[in-house]
Amino acid sequence: MQVRNNISLKPYNTFGIDVKAKYFAELHSDDEIVKFYSSLGPEHLPVLILGTGSNILFTKDYPGAVACIRSKGMVKLMEDEKYIYLKVAAGEIWDDVVKYAVEHGWGGIENLSLIPGTAGAAPIQNIGAYGVEIKDVLWSVEVADILARNYRAFRPSDCNFGYRSSIFKTKGMSRMVITGICLKLRKDPVLRLDYGDIRKELDIAGIKDPSLSAVRDIIIKIRSSKLPDPSVVGNAGSFFMNPFVAADEYARLIKEFPHMPSFKSGDAVKIPAAWLIERCGFKGKRVGDAGVHENQPLVLVNHGSATGKQILDLAEKIIASVKEKFGITLETEVNVF
Ligand code: EPU
Repeated sequence: MQVRNNISLKPYNTFGIDVKAKYFAELHSDDEIVKFYSSLGPEHLPVLILGTGSNILFTKDYPGAVACIRSKGMVKLMEDEKYIYLKVAAGEIWDDVVKYAVEHGWGGIENLSLIPGTAGAAPIQNIGAYGVEIKDVLWSVEVADILARNYRAFRPSDCNFGYRSSIFKTKGMSRMVITGICLKLRKDPVLRLDYGDIRKELDIAGIKDPSLSAVRDIIIKIRSSKLPDPSVVGNAGSFFMNPFVAADEYARLIKEFPHMPSFKSGDAVKIPAAWLIERCGFKGKRVGDAGVHENQPLVLVNHGSATGKQILDLAEKIIASVKEKFGITLETEVNVF
């Protein structure tokens, strides 16, 4: 482990924003994580932990130490009649984990194919797609508690999971560094095909009784057709969360906007932010190198050399416009620093 000074973070965030970290380290094992924290002086604080930097927008230089978790390893811990318990190091690339599970015929995460980021970052915002969230398949989240100087495991019931949120997003939790996760995967997979275009795409491909890998392939096809590849154009996936409105607010909105799509969710109603943003005229819009993706307006993109501030300005314009037209306040999904 080497702590370096004044490092450009451009290769370490998928928006491709060129800011500097005062200190920077890549940590390849749990040992290195512990050593790194033991070596910190006050000048290194605050510490920011990154996986692949796929859910962050930097708007300024980082004044402390940035550490990228690079630990690797996937081990089958145990199995019972129904499940495989797969322990995954925090630095594993999430989609490699999905690929590995699908290749072994273990079900549960195939709908989460191609989500960018690392396994360790996945529980922080409870990654989700196509009707599945990671909380559905988690057995535990393993953390190094930097203050107490020990390792702990959180069970899902301790994690306070919600839509794109968990206890790990709350402030006091910065003392917990996620070192790994354990997934509980089904030996006899139960496929979830009811979300969006999955069935339609399977029909088009002439697949009647899909295998796990057929589902993975379809999800990859759907995602690739809508979402920009961060290695081609800088982005951090959905920039905003889909808003939830109360039933009376929904009644007001649907009267005024009868074509507004919506999804009932308990007592509340989820409205696709993509639709709201498109109706405000932002789909495909570009201000300098900061832009709104042409196929999925929930995603903001860096067409080249946009600064984080320019992307944030565009996001703020979108928030103001959606607020004015619909009375709904969009919240960012991406962490803004
Ligand atoms: N829509 C439009 N215009 C568009 C695109 C979509 O109006 O150009 C509307 C349509 O009504 C569509 C609806 O938005 O039915 C939902 O679109 P989509 O199924 O593409 O999903 P999303 O709600 O926009 C969420 C996640 C994605 C995830 C997809 C699929 C959030 C913030 N985003 O997007 O996650 O891949 O569902 O499950 O919940 C991410 O978190 O980075 C991410 C990409």
